[in-house]
Parts: sequence; C-alpha cells; structure tokens
Amino acid sequence: MTLLILGGTGTLGRQIVRKALENGFQVRCIVRNKRAANFLKEWGAELVYGDLTLPETLPPSFQGVTAIIDASTTKATDNIDVINVDWYGKLILVELAQYAQIKRFIFLSILNSEKYPDITLMQMKYRIEKLIKYSGIPFTIFKYAGFFQTIINQYAIPILEKKPVFTLLESPPIPYIDTQDAAFFCVKSLSIKETKNKTFITGSSQAWKSEQIIELCERLSGQKAKTLMISTSLLKVLRQITGFFEWSLQISERLAFIEVISNTQNFDSGIEDTYTILDINPKEILELDFFLQKYFEIILNTLEKRKQTKSILI
Ligand SMILES: NC(=O)c1ccc[n+]([C@@H]2O[C@H](COP(=O)([O-])OP(=O)(O)OC[C@H]3O[C@@H](n4cnc5c(N)ncnc54)[C@H](OP(=O)(O)O)[C@@H]3O)[C@@H](O)[C@H]2O)c1
Repeated sequence: MTLLILGGTGTLGRQIVRKALENGFQVRCIVRNKRAANFLKEWGAELVYGDLTLPETLPPSFQGVTAIIDASTTKATDNIDVINVDWYGKLILVELAQYAQIKRFIFLSILNSEKYPDITLMQMKYRIEKLIKYSGIPFTIFKYAGFFQTIINQYAIPILEKKPVFTLLESPPIPYIDTQDAAFFCVKSLSIKETKNKTFITGSSQAWKSEQIIELCERLSGQKAKTLMISTSLLKVLRQITGFFEWSLQISERLAFIEVISNTQNFDSGIEDTYTILDINPKEILELDFFLQKYFEIILNTLEKRKQTKSILI
C-alpha cells in the first residue's frame, strides 16, 4: 500500500512518516525542498517535489497511491497567506484525491475549528473538514488541541532562558499529546475499518492547565518562571490591534490560536471514544510530566557538560 504524506518534514508529519515506515507502508512524501527533507529519504521514504501553492506540481505524486495523510499547514515562519495553503492548496488536494479514487484521506485539524469562523485558519480547517466529508472519499479526521513539542517553545525554553512566559487568566485544562503518539493513532486508523468516515478528538488522557505546566517546568528546571498573566479580553484587543497591519497578521493568528485553546472546554467528551475505537490503552500513551522530565534531564545535563568543558578550557 502506497501512502502519500504531506507535511512529512513537520513536527507531527515526520513522526507519521517514521511510524508508517515501521509499519511496513510504502511512503511517498510531497516536499517543497528535497535537500531539507533528505532525512525522510534516509529513513526509507520516497520524495517527490510538490508545493500546495503551485497546483501543477501535485498530480505526479498521486500515481498508485492508496491513502493520503495530510499533515501540512501554513508555517508561521513562511510569509505566505494561510488561505493559499490551507484553503486553495487543500481544495486541489481533495480534487486530486477524488480523481485518483483514494481509499482513505486522513486530514489533521484543530479542536473546535467549527466554533471560530472569525479566525482564518480555524475557518479554513472547518471548511476543508466539511468538504472532505461531502466529497465521497473515505476519510478520517483527527482534531488536536496541541502537542507536547509546542510546550517546549511556549514554556520550557523561556523559563530556562529567564524570559517571560505568557499565560491567560483562568486557563482550562488542555489534553496535549506527544507527536509520536498522535502519529501512532493516525497510522493505526488505516488498519481499523471502524475509523472510516469518522472524526476523532485526540489527546493524552490527562489534561493540564497552564499554571500546572509552569509549576512543573519550574520544579524540573530549578528556575523560577517570569509569568505574565493576561486576560482573554486583553488578548482580544491585542489581536484586533495586530490584525490591522498586514505584516502582523501571523501574530494576530497566533494570538487567536492561544485564545481558542484557552477557551476550549469539554474536550474529554470524545477522547474516550477515540481510545475505544482505535483500541488503544491510555496507559500506553506518554504523559506530559514524564515527557518534560526527560526533556529537562537531557537539556540540564548538556548545559552542565558545556559549563564543565568551558571551565577546563579557561
Ligand atoms: N502544532 C500544534 O500544536 C497543532 C495543534 C492542533 C492541530 N495541529 C495540526 O496538526 C498538523 C501538523 O501540525 P505541525 O505543527 O506538525 O505542522 P508544522 O510543524 O508547522 O509543519 C507544517 C508542514 O507543512 C508543510 N508545508 C507548509 N506549506 C506547504 C506548502 N505550500 N506545500 C507543501 N507543504 C507545505 C511544511 O513543509 P516545509 O518543511 O517545506 O516547511 C511542513 O512539513 C496541522 O494540520 C496542524 O494544523 C497542530
């Protein structure tokens, strides 16, 4: 079975590629830069050049493909409008999948995408979810609140570097998930027929409030965080201000995303079904405290070794 993966170089996508190869799939990845994606080739994937903003580059990748996993999304670091990748790019992708009679289209989306029509990325995600559902292509959709790996950038690194950590007042618990586990869910769904035409809310079984994550990072790093609490209303104002200027649209979108995540409630309604249908024991899934413990062990060890080497050289 040939699996076509988009976003294979991304945080989650690379874990999906690895898991799919481990599970014996033939993996073909559409990549924008073959040199940067060479690690996927070394793992055993076939690389084909393609860019969602250049529709003419996509059809050659579809030859002999049985299923697609789309883990691509606009990169915050790219200066490309979200609509070009997450709307127009995906429209072409769905059309090509229909034409190629793909047996399963796995689309990765964001929790509560349907509730935020004023946030472009959320609106695009929700529209594509609907498009896939009505396309007639057998589909599976996974919706996430966030990944453990995002927590490293949002909390762990700023705390280690003694930089401010932004958090919202009254933030609800969020069921983040490790990308290796998210990839496991995705690839496993291909072999379970009950996952056909279903949408799954995906997270680890334990949800964490931002203040709990900060406390945990403080304990594991031995550093006190410089926490800046902001209210949802201030966040909304900031979003409106930044949204005025074209150059800051991505900042505005990122602020919007924080707001969405922070307003998310009742996630666990649905997560249990995901574990049941995919036949996964929640105990097999990595928990955030263990993940962060390992992260800080490695990073503090490396920093200590660097300090020792420096003192020898002086
Ligand atoms: N990160 C989160 O916390 C989070 C939360 C909820 C849902 N999700 C969803 O989970 C999925 C994976 O997210 P992620 O954080 O792993 O993404 P990511 O690390 O930002 O990776 C994005 C991927 O999309 C590719 N891409 C971007 N523009 C492209 C284009 N024009 N044509 C082809 N490929 C393109 C990138 O390729 P290059 O290497 O060439 O840049 C990269 O491989 C996305 O659907 C995202 O919306 C993520």
